[in-house]
Amino acid sequence: MSARPLIIDCDPGQDDAVALLLAFASAEELDLLGVTAVAGNVPLARTESNARRIRDLAGRPEVPVYAGCPRPMVREPVSAEYVHGSTGIDGADLPEPSRPAEPAHAVDFLVDALKAAVEPITLATLGPLTNVALAIVKEPAILANVREIVTMGGAIGLGNVTPAAEFNIHADPHAAHVVFEAGVPLTMIGLDVTHQAIATPPRLEAIRALGTAPAAAVCGMLDLYGARNLATYDHGAPMHDPCVVAYLLAPGLFEGRAMRVDVELGAGHCFGRTVCDLHGRSGAGANAHVLERVDADGFFAMLTERLARLPAVPI
Ligand code: BDR
Ligand code: CA
Repeated sequence: MSARPLIIDCDPGQDDAVALLLAFASAEELDLLGVTAVAGNVPLARTESNARRIRDLAGRPEVPVYAGCPRPMVREPVSAEYVHGSTGIDGADLPEPSRPAEPAHAVDFLVDALKAAVEPITLATLGPLTNVALAIVKEPAILANVREIVTMGGAIGLGNVTPAAEFNIHADPHAAHVVFEAGVPLTMIGLDVTHQAIATPPRLEAIRALGTAPAAAVCGMLDLYGARNLATYDHGAPMHDPCVVAYLLAPGLFEGRAMRVDVELGAGHCFGRTVCDLHGRSGAGANAHVLERVDADGFFAMLTERLARLPAVPI
């Protein structure tokens, strides 16, 4: 089986960083054509340099990193240093990146890569959808070469950044609207799923026991992320973004169903909410495969095994 051509759009972000490591460690299944960064958890300058730091940590210097949009399409910018720390990857303790980002803008890379694709490309999105939406707006013909979009964002249930909305969708709901209306196969991995994949102390200890630099960085980040999470929820770090990569590697770990999802763009309590038509009340056709359950033990077993494949620089 040949590796699946993939572009990851992200805003690292502690959980984005773990997702990138999982993808970098999975070259047999994932042909990572590039990583595009967007403003989100922290400003763009930091998300794109963090993507390059993670690339170095994974020993994958050949994967190009592109900087994208520094702000959302319409709404005022928001960020999440209160979760991820001022660097976005607090706890990883990584040096300056060894190589610069590519000169091209992420949106242009997305357009050019998709236009030139001989095999349809999968887009994995781990942050606000600004880059992907602008690529669609700039060149709608690229959609013909999108195999599927797998996105971390939204929720059937309630939110995490407001009572109603999840961060990635709330940070650029207009971009999310463009992507959910694009008419390509779309898998939504929302909070309902990611809050089932919790980095509990025993799961973190299994990763820490690998004794490598990537494992130490993952545990350093998730220790902090988990502690901040505990302040709000009754559990540690949810593996939001790594679920996207895990789904691509092992879809059998997840269960979900097709439904209509609309993004609330009106001002008010529900701004940025994904309205998921769980019971088909709208009569509108499904536009998303919405995941509802994950085998968390299977997920962490795979994550730990994949992290063990990364360069074993001792710590
Ligand atoms: C999402 O928001 C970000 O803070 C995380 O990186 C994840 O992509 C979870 O709501
Ligand atoms: Ca993210």
